[in-house]
Amino acid sequence: MSQVRVLTGIKPTGTPHLGNYVGAIRPTVRASRQPGVDSFLFLADYHAMISTQDPGRLQHSTLEIAATWIACGLNPADVTFYRQSDVPEIPELTWFLTCVCGKGLLNRAHAYKAMLDKNAAAGTEPDDGVSAGLFMYPVLMAADILMFNAHQVPVGRDQVQHIEMARDMASSFNHLYGEHFTLPDAVIEESVATLPGLDGRKMSKSYDNVIPLFAPPEQLRKQILGIVTDSKMPGEPKQTEGSALFQIYQAFATPEETAAFAQAYADGIAWGDAKQQLFERIDREIAPMRATYNGLMAHPEKVEAMLQAGAVKARAVATPFTARVRHAVGLRPLQAHAAPVAAKADKAALPTFKQYREKDGLFYFKLADAKGRVLLQSVGCASPKDAGQAIARLKTQGYAACPDLHTLAHVADGASATEAETALQALREAE
Ligand code: TRP
Repeated sequence: MSQVRVLTGIKPTGTPHLGNYVGAIRPTVRASRQPGVDSFLFLADYHAMISTQDPGRLQHSTLEIAATWIACGLNPADVTFYRQSDVPEIPELTWFLTCVCGKGLLNRAHAYKAMLDKNAAAGTEPDDGVSAGLFMYPVLMAADILMFNAHQVPVGRDQVQHIEMARDMASSFNHLYGEHFTLPDAVIEESVATLPGLDGRKMSKSYDNVIPLFAPPEQLRKQILGIVTDSKMPGEPKQTEGSALFQIYQAFATPEETAAFAQAYADGIAWGDAKQQLFERIDREIAPMRATYNGLMAHPEKVEAMLQAGAVKARAVATPFTARVRHAVGLRPLQAHAAPVAAKADKAALPTFKQYREKDGLFYFKLADAKGRVLLQSVGCASPKDAGQAIARLKTQGYAACPDLHTLAHVADGASATEAETALQALREAE
């Protein structure tokens, strides 16, 4: 049951609109429910600090975005849903990556280059208005991704370069310090639904044509009445092609409902009636979420508690992993041995996995250190193959990186997750 780890960051800025819902939130929530996917989703509030210097706004946006995702069906029990700034290991890793990242790589980042171009056009200093935070954006983002050894990062086209930079930093680090990081792949959703806005252009804040996702129903209705249409009269057949109203309807309706709506167009439905139908269809999907959202906005402490629980899950991975990485770069107790060299030189001193069968007929395994002290203990597996696969994954990925195996193999009494991690690392390096 090998799982794909998928990680996405959401910058808490602005108020979500229907376009965000259809294009990003709804598909991501659906994907997070798929079996075989270990989904990490976080609020990139450190990133938001680069553009938002209003503390109240940062806090409010964080609440708004967190409440939106939960209201839209994200179940914190299915995924690891957390706030970036609750994981202090991320800025620590950012520093480690900063030290292996060429400045020239960052000079080539699109967002930074766009600022240079803008300043050149305005005849101002090249770095005018560029904070070091903006310049470092890609390193912080690499730390977000590499911390959890994500395999896949679903992003928009504008973010692909950032994923490539994360791969670069991971390779440089691995080359210097051993194989610690998985190289992530960007996953670009080609078929991402883009929704037209009030004026028929893509719904986007920059066009000021958005319909807020959780506006009160009366406001939603008013805004829908404002969607541009042609001047065809009631009774005149209408074109579905190029109709923003129709496209928005389609994004919410079943194929049958859409076919019926197309028929109504052909039959000459009045625009006012079509808009009323659209309002009703959207509101049918949104109303229950809006109620949840309003409830959460009225109780920020509930959202806070969910994020705190998410941080505990995230840090269960981040803390031991960072310990490993600190050790790898040489930030370690002065008496500690350089594990890789020692392990290679002395095979006899290696930890071992033992597989065995109990009277209950099930197959077990345990990981013991060189002295025979048990570090990890499994529960019973149905077949030796299941046990073998779990061992193989623990050896290649480490314990923290396989949270799905934590119910199968737990840290033994008297041992710690860090010790288990170090033992697995020694085994990996000895291979
Ligand atoms: N840069 C992303 C955006 O603007 C947000 C983000 C921050 C992110 N860290 C990430 C996305 C890590 C994916 C993975 O949309």
